[in-house]
Amino acid sequence: MSKLDALKKPIAEELNLFESRFRDSMKSKVALLDRIMHYIVQRKGKQVRPMFVFLCARIFGPIKDETYTAASLIELLHTASLVHDDVVDDSHLRRGFFSVNALWKNKIAVLVGDYLLSKGLLLAVEHEQYQTLKIVSTAVKELSEGELMQIDKARKLDITEDVYFEVIRQKTASLMAAACSAGASSAGCKQEVVSDFKKFGELAGIAFQIKDDLFDYGYQNIGKPTGIDIKEKKMTLPLIHSLQKCENNDRRRIINLIKRKSDKKSTFKEVLNFVNQHDGISYSELKMNEYKASALAILNKYPQNEAMLGLRNLVEFVVSRRS
Ligand code: FPP
Ligand code: MG
Repeated sequence: MSKLDALKKPIAEELNLFESRFRDSMKSKVALLDRIMHYIVQRKGKQVRPMFVFLCARIFGPIKDETYTAASLIELLHTASLVHDDVVDDSHLRRGFFSVNALWKNKIAVLVGDYLLSKGLLLAVEHEQYQTLKIVSTAVKELSEGELMQIDKARKLDITEDVYFEVIRQKTASLMAAACSAGASSAGCKQEVVSDFKKFGELAGIAFQIKDDLFDYGYQNIGKPTGIDIKEKKMTLPLIHSLQKCENNDRRRIINLIKRKSDKKSTFKEVLNFVNQHDGISYSELKMNEYKASALAILNKYPQNEAMLGLRNLVEFVVSRRS
């Protein structure tokens, strides 16, 4: 059994029921859409976000209908954002398979993303879960802002560490924060608790994205393609930290290289050397562990039951995962 399967075990029944509801929520009478939905469902991801929703709710009692709606809503919006993201990044692969835009072109992928987004929002309206609707709509707004800020920074190549953290807080952590707060809210927790779980999800989400960004530098050598971020002029923490530490002329040289030759293999090699020279990887690891520890600390004042243990293990998984 994989590490992730072991983590899913305490909520396996809930996740199974969730999957069939999630599949139902994607159905369409339009044949083309239905075909694409089928394609998407068959290539599902790790389902980390629904796991966060269920575990955060389960800490406070048995799972209710509201939690299933919240989990479907989060997964629908996450899926919508990935379909759009592959258009934005002009990426033809997702989870090792062809992306929607690769198979059906951008026009269709944009509309498919819109469809998933609207299906998610409608689901909350149909179940009259307005608190969930508010939590998730706020996250979608932040996702879009984060993506736009990232594009702006890639154009100007002037991202600082503070801005990097703001970008990843918006583009990734906001949806994790929504998953955790929607989970707690669906269990009937009061506002104060919902806010704590939002903060918890945000900190865990930042750690998640730092890990993702480390993979691009060949971290743990898991066979994932490397150097994609540099190719797209996306500067992430290992490089930002190194640029902050280095001599002025080195900084100018590296930025110029990325500006002019970002798509050359030799550029990534040089950037990787530069990052290793300035401890960019170990610094990012340190930061990731700091965020993980702050996330876990928030949980201390809540019941330390089986679901809580599962949630803590899920956070450990987020920073130790190999894919
Ligand atoms: C993956 O990032 C993408 C995101 C974290 C968010 C994408 C959000 C949008 C495109 C806004 C639109 C949202 C909706 C709901 C309509 P990445 O490119 O760093 O990672 P990757 O390697 O998974 O592509
Ligand atoms: Mg992308």
